[in-house]
Amino acid sequence: MSKKTILTLVGSLRAGSTNLQLAEAIALNAPEQVDVVIHESLGNIPFYNEDIDVEGQVPAAAAALRAAANEADTILLVTPEHNGTVPASLKNAIDWLSRPFGAGALSGKPTAVVGTAFGQFGGVWAQDEARKAVGIAGAQVLENVKLAVPGSMVRFAEVHPKDDAEVVEQIKGVFDALAEAPAAEAA
Ligand SMILES: Cc1cc2nc3c(=O)[nH]c(=O)nc-3n(C[C@H](O)[C@H](O)[C@H](O)COP(=O)(O)O)c2cc1C
Repeated sequence: MSKKTILTLVGSLRAGSTNLQLAEAIALNAPEQVDVVIHESLGNIPFYNEDIDVEGQVPAAAAALRAAANEADTILLVTPEHNGTVPASLKNAIDWLSRPFGAGALSGKPTAVVGTAFGQFGGVWAQDEARKAVGIAGAQVLENVKLAVPGSMVRFAEVHPKDDAEVVEQIKGVFDALAEAPAAEAA
């Protein structure tokens, strides 16, 4: 069986991001037939602007994101919550991936959302908003994939998520749910 690629976009730009760490733990726990690629540098992508989204002239960081998303079998957003919603850097990435309208990299692409946030619900508002946005962008939203870890900054202050047995168990549940998900729809 050929390997499946999951492209992970992290909704925090912080070097010490607990969501980046969660993405690392997800990559480390991937089944053998799955490659998890963590896309670096969402922070280098300019704010979406139709004036600069011109064929042949798309900013390099946005073009690289689109290429990576096109190549991936599945997209996994790993995000905290910022003021009850999706952090701007991640929303910007979603906007770039949503265009050209009807034919963006998210069209028909299986897409799941997980993450950790400081609040007691682990950022579920942001996750729901992210699902809504990618769904509007045409993605096939994998609603059955759920993981929201509360208390990010405290829980992972001393322990990396890869060494947190409960989180590792939950990550296995994420891969089980991903394995049950249908393949990409035709765009
Ligand atoms: C601008 C800002 C807004 C935030 N708003 C929320 C929020 O609405 N809900 C929440 O649970 N945490 C909120 N937090 C706390 C983040 O969830 C917490 O800092 C998280 O660990 C950030 O993710 P990171 O560790 O991957 O950078 C906010 C943090 C920042 C910087």
